[in-house]
Amino acid sequence: MVRLTGFNNINTAVFISGTGSNLKSLIKFFKRRKYPIYTKLIISDNSKAKGLKYGNIFKIKKKVFNFKKKNLAEKKLLVQLKKNNIQLICLAGFMKILSKNFVKKFKGKILNIHPSLLPKYKGLNTHQRVLQNNEKYSGCTVHLVNSKLDSGKIILQSKIKIYKKDTPKSLAARILKEEHKLYPKAVLKLFNL
Ligand code: GAR
Repeated sequence: MVRLTGFNNINTAVFISGTGSNLKSLIKFFKRRKYPIYTKLIISDNSKAKGLKYGNIFKIKKKVFNFKKKNLAEKKLLVQLKKNNIQLICLAGFMKILSKNFVKKFKGKILNIHPSLLPKYKGLNTHQRVLQNNEKYSGCTVHLVNSKLDSGKIILQSKIKIYKKDTPKSLAARILKEEHKLYPKAVLKLFNL
């Protein structure tokens, strides 16, 4: 776990590719000012990501990088992270894979949320695969990011029951609600708060 010295502020950058509902829940949680954690930067690989609107709503700086040129994007990204004194990266529906080199530079300081009970169902189309396999339970996981996909140390998980009538859509929606509660808790746990 990350050790905090004194009352340092923890500046966070949240990376998104789409809707940004996890971004919204993280912003709202940390806005309560109960903890010294701030959402300082919103990063996206997609200029059309709906979640970028939360930058305007909550007055948080946002930056979009073109990951088609990944090396260059990550180089520019590192400059921004340094400039904004970012100590923690939260991947929240960020659909690009960060390079080994980038992950190494932020070792132990990148979290990701994944909509399954890892180590089961890494990767895409999680809910569809879970239902096809007639699983009784699914859920979501917040884990540290390492160089392998959805494989770093698990910080927290939340488990839910699957109903007979569930579709990938209904399951995704129920799990997303759990994600909104789990992600802030996992950040606090990482910093022993
Ligand atoms: C969330 O369900 C998140 O777990 C998933 O994308 C969704 C993003 O929703 N992430 C992945 O599948 C990453 N492998 P949001 O944009 O509303 O937070």
